Amino acid sequence: MALLKAVDPKGLLKKELITEEEIKTKVEELAERITIDYQGKKPLFIGILKGAFVFLSDLVRKIEIPLEIDFMSVSSYGKATQTSGVVKIEKDLDRDIRNRHIILVEDILDTGLTLKYLVDTLSARNPASIEICTLLVKEGKQRVNIEPKYVGFTIPDEFVVGYGLDFAGMYRHLNSIYAIDTDKI
Ligand code: IMP
Repeated sequence: MALLKAVDPKGLLKKELITEEEIKTKVEELAERITIDYQGKKPLFIGILKGAFVFLSDLVRKIEIPLEIDFMSVSSYGKATQTSGVVKIEKDLDRDIRNRHIILVEDILDTGLTLKYLVDTLSARNPASIEICTLLVKEGKQRVNIEPKYVGFTIPDEFVVGYGLDFAGMYRHLNSIYAIDTDKI
């Protein structure tokens, strides 16, 4: 972790959970599956800001079919490392999604409350289909029934940062995914 001193002056990073190389391989795998599954379609990728911006940008550049991209920004009220379940749309989509094939791209599925809210809200707008692509799933933490079609990695119940994920706005620019030491917060 010494090398990370420059980006982690408080020393919160505990260990590297997923390396840059592992992420790259997985993103390529997911992109290949999506390319096959959506042949003949023009899906609309919806990135959930801010956490999904790195994953989305790597993912779409490996996909070999026509596609469009939009973003939503949501915030959930709660403590720094826990979701309350109350979700507020800060930025809505720029377009109508009626009859579109939607792929919601998220950084991490924890309780599932954010994605459940988004799937319910977007389903009411009558898309042709709606699927979830999430880089991470926290094992055993889901409080609602939500089944992402595309999952990168299942991880233990730790608070993680890097590759788009933040703690208090920090660490999003790291190339790997790290667990942080919550005892130090
Ligand atoms: P959920 O609604 O509990 O599934 O939480 C989803 C959102 O909480 C994610 O999109 C993240 O923004 C945030 N989140 C949950 N766990 C983590 C984590 O370990 N690191 C960083 N953000 C997290």
